[in-house]
Amino acid sequence: MGSKIAVIGAGVTGLVTLKNLLEESFDVTAFEGRHAIGGLWKYTSDGGILSVLEMTISNKSRFEVSYTDFPYPEGSPIFPSGAEVQNYLESYAYNFDLLPHIQLQMKVLKVVRNHDDTKWTLHLRDRNGPETTDDFDKVAFCSGEWGRPKMPVSVSLFKGELIHAQQFKKPSKFKGKAVVVLGIGNNAADIATALVGHASKIYLAHRDGRPGDLAITRRVLDFRYTLNAISPIASEGFFNMVIQSLTKRASMCHQPTVSDNLCSHLEDGSIISKHNVKKFVGQNTITFTDSTTAEIDALICCTGFTRDFTLIPELRTTERDAWSEKPKSDGQPLPRLYQNIFPPSRSDSIAFLNNFNFSTGYMLIADLASMALAQVWKGNSQLPSVGEMNQQIDAHHAWLTKLVERETVHSDFVQEESWLRWCHDAAGTGINENLGYRLAGWGFWARERKLSGLLMGGVETPFAIRFFDGKRKKWAGARQAIIDVNKEVSRL
Ligand SMILES: Cc1cc2nc3c(=O)[nH]c(=O)nc-3n(C[C@H](O)[C@H](O)[C@H](O)COP(=O)(O)OP(=O)(O)OC[C@H]3O[C@@H](n4cnc5c(N)ncnc54)[C@H](O)[C@@H]3O)c2cc1C
Ligand SMILES: NC(=O)c1ccc[n+]([C@@H]2O[C@H](COP(=O)([O-])OP(=O)(O)OC[C@H]3O[C@@H](n4cnc5c(N)ncnc54)[C@H](OP(=O)(O)O)[C@@H]3O)[C@@H](O)[C@H]2O)c1
Repeated sequence: MGSKIAVIGAGVTGLVTLKNLLEESFDVTAFEGRHAIGGLWKYTSDGGILSVLEMTISNKSRFEVSYTDFPYPEGSPIFPSGAEVQNYLESYAYNFDLLPHIQLQMKVLKVVRNHDDTKWTLHLRDRNGPETTDDFDKVAFCSGEWGRPKMPVSVSLFKGELIHAQQFKKPSKFKGKAVVVLGIGNNAADIATALVGHASKIYLAHRDGRPGDLAITRRVLDFRYTLNAISPIASEGFFNMVIQSLTKRASMCHQPTVSDNLCSHLEDGSIISKHNVKKFVGQNTITFTDSTTAEIDALICCTGFTRDFTLIPELRTTERDAWSEKPKSDGQPLPRLYQNIFPPSRSDSIAFLNNFNFSTGYMLIADLASMALAQVWKGNSQLPSVGEMNQQIDAHHAWLTKLVERETVHSDFVQEESWLRWCHDAAGTGINENLGYRLAGWGFWARERKLSGLLMGGVETPFAIRFFDGKRKKWAGARQAIIDVNKEVSRL
């Protein structure tokens, strides 16, 4: 039996971290403050707790929102509902026998070093009991990215009903009311569309979010028409470039906002698009930045969340940094974490698995990152020296700080390609070695034409991560699962 490890949280990240650490023979216990596993996918009507809505549909398809060795049941919808994702998570926990290792309704209050500085002491409280403590060699934080609801300062002047998206649970509560939904992320889209048929007026106020077709100007069209007359193939290539440049810009720093019916509701006027909120006048009047006004009863701020590192006082960063000075940042100093996971001075015993993000399915990256963590803590993959880790952190912070000069960026945003490459190397997935256009990639192509074709040109499936020989455990079902998922997608 390896070191004794505590995992904090049993949502998407906590479950897979627990599983990947158990797989490497560590002695692991997960502590979950709620009464159920699943984290935010378990719907609750408690406005103090973040959860999906009853009507939430995953914004990523199940081909992406899946762990690396556990397909959804046959016949599942392509975009699963929140309840279906929760069922999937419960089946995953049952299938890998995780439940005996999870203590529910056990909140971690803080994590500190013990008296002789050899272990981490967790201060715990179960639902009714007194505070207790327990010592662990290592701690993995899987307590969620969405620590604290973020409210714009100016909204405190509003005299009507004011809530954050986290508190929004049922649209019927807004029956007959005029409501402003502030923001244009996925929460704003979900909440604004949920209000249709309930609220008397719905304004969606935002400071960004241009329809893609606004990028097509007369000049672009003229050029395309001319090119089309000369070479339709070149014209199509040019048009794809324009669309791709839009996609790149949209997905560079933000999760794309995906909604089945937001656009149709905007078109039929049941949701009215507005500029950002400028000020509040009197009891109910709101002025937007284009100087139009509206009489409203309620304001729902879908303005995102800020990270929370308060559980471990030793690693709390309080000093202002260049990032926090930028107007478009979240105003909080960036955490100093190598690969957004390891605090350099405590990398052998502390890991944060709630601080990386880019536009891809969360289950996949949580699975991959926790595989990498398991191999690092097992000693199969090495981290660089503390000095080198600090250098990488400085470079990453400088990159983020430059990015945030241009547009708002979440503080956990990572450089996708290098971050994934590091994770694959540390986890030992064999992906870096066997796929691509280097010699080994051609070797795999020569040996396995069909699989190579599917992995390079087919669905970018999480199951690929368990296919090759390597350090982390392989999944015997990976080959068939890769073939099956490609077959299914080709029929769509
Ligand atoms: C409303 C919403 C919808 C989303 N939809 C999608 C989607 O469609 N597709 C997608 O890929 N991603 C989506 N995401 C991103 C989402 O964050 C991830 O899919 C994923 O659920 C994150 O899982 P997690 O385990 O990191 O965090 P959470 O699900 O937040 O789980 C963290 C767990 O830790 C527990 N915890 C926290 N602190 C403590 C403590 N001190 N002691 C004990 N337990 C603690 C919490 O109770 C919780 O159960 C969505 C996010 C939000 C906010
Ligand atoms: N159905 C789903 O799958 C689903 C549903 C909900 C949430 N999610 C996920 O959950 C995560 C959180 O989503 P979220 O929508 O809560 O947060 P988010 O993605 O951070 O979006 C926040 C929105 O609020 C705006 N905003 C922030 N501060 C503002 C201010 N002071 N004034 C005006 N506007 C402001 C932002 O605009 P700027 O861009 O200009 O900063 C952005 O439009 C995301 O990863 C999302 O994809 C998924």
